Amino acid sequence: MSTSAYVAPVDPNSPASLVPNVDIAKIWATVPRGEKVEVGTTRVFYNTPESKITAASSLGDNFASKQGDARRELVRKSVGSAVKALKALEGLQEVTVDASADPHAAAVAAKLASYNFTLKTNPPSRFNPNLKEPIPPKLQFKPIEGSKEWDRGVAYAYSQNLARTLMELPANMMTPTAFCERAKTEFAGVENVEIFVRDEAWAEKKGMNTFLSVTHGTNEPAKFLEIHYKGAAQKDAKPLALVGKGITFDSGGISLKPAADMKLMRGDMGGAATVVSATLAIAKLKLPVNLVTITPLTENLPGPSATKPGDIIYAMNGKSVEVDNTDAEGRLVLSDAIYYASTEYKPHTLIDVATLTGAMVIALGEVYTGVFSTSDELWQRLHAAGEREFDRFWRMPLSEDYGPQIYSSNADLCNTGGRPAGSATAALFLKAFAHGIEAEDGSNAATAMKWAHVDIAGTMEATRPTPYQEKGMTGRPVRYVVFFQSFLWSGC
Ligand code: BES
Ligand code: MN
Ligand code: ZN
Repeated sequence: MSTSAYVAPVDPNSPASLVPNVDIAKIWATVPRGEKVEVGTTRVFYNTPESKITAASSLGDNFASKQGDARRELVRKSVGSAVKALKALEGLQEVTVDASADPHAAAVAAKLASYNFTLKTNPPSRFNPNLKEPIPPKLQFKPIEGSKEWDRGVAYAYSQNLARTLMELPANMMTPTAFCERAKTEFAGVENVEIFVRDEAWAEKKGMNTFLSVTHGTNEPAKFLEIHYKGAAQKDAKPLALVGKGITFDSGGISLKPAADMKLMRGDMGGAATVVSATLAIAKLKLPVNLVTITPLTENLPGPSATKPGDIIYAMNGKSVEVDNTDAEGRLVLSDAIYYASTEYKPHTLIDVATLTGAMVIALGEVYTGVFSTSDELWQRLHAAGEREFDRFWRMPLSEDYGPQIYSSNADLCNTGGRPAGSATAALFLKAFAHGIEAEDGSNAATAMKWAHVDIAGTMEATRPTPYQEKGMTGRPVRYVVFFQSFLWSGC
């Protein structure tokens, strides 16, 4: 059996490829075709020259007529399907990709499709957190013709796969402390980066009482991680702030969740995982932006000192918050983090990413991620970035008209607003902590901080495989956040 293979995306209407010494048109024609050749239909040829394997995969019948975002997605599906067909082959080590149709998309799809999380011990898993020597991925990919776009795609996909790993790792292995250690390891040697791991005593001094209220039920120390990246030519240029929800396990606390599927809540740090991973790609690619990435990290458990339903807490910004349900903990950790980020660093834009509400799963499922924003302009850019990476977003309403649902308890804010529009009331809750945002009448639009809240509860996990990802934690929206950065500085 050969240890190396080629991946050749093929337009079924005019088969051609860069694979050396292989007449793709000829071998493709040896398999009878039906009416249509769907994108991703893959044929594996074992006896192509030098005893190499060639996986030829359809780009779809309409490939020639597709442009831009739609074309890129066909490339991802085609390359991803070919890699999935190859990765089961025993002994295969090296895969060379004809990436000429779109090197960035091809690299992304190849790396994402080859990813499988496991902690089975035979063969030893490279995801085992106790490894002394790292184990490389089973398949190594390279393009037939190297390019910057390919390298960029590799960095995007590396980060997305990192987020998947952080989310998949169970809560006993991915504690707040372990999360910070892993972040430090991943950023080792990356230039223009500073990492601060704050502890609970620091958070207490800052008055982060809503964040700390979530930590009371657990003995596992909470952490508040900050990563600063200074890539802009002007070192003191206002940063973009990314804030990620980092609940390393969400049991619901005293308002305990039902047992079924509770293990999914090991991924309730998906917001933190994705913003930290995106930051890694941005820093590695040396994008000329300043970035502050902030993640409050804690478990949410019931315990003798745990916060109880009805408790009222003064948040860092002085507002009183009634904890009606300890399972609505995400908004409690985010409120102090958002307030801190917006007052301490005065970012031009703040984007928070969170596995925030079950209601979002009901509203948009696994397909679109919900975005709430005070800024039409920010939304336009976020939308375009999502289409570009096929990590798609849908705008949800951020309206004060939902206010009575969360403003009517004994405190300024209540952390639940009933079942109707549960994602919209959660977003409105966060808005009370985003300092300096645009007023309803738009009077301060020029100087206001642009803010978007991204609820990934629905898209954190895929229950079915897609052509270039297996099922499991998705690592969305890492690519989208990275691409959004390129947008900011390219000014397009
Ligand atoms: N982490 C959950 C939200 C979640 C649910 C994410 C399912 C992914 C899949 C969050 O902390 C939560 O429990 N939210 C509650 C809020 C409610 C009590 C107001 C919810 O959505 O049920
Ligand atoms: Mn919860
Ligand atoms: Zn949660």
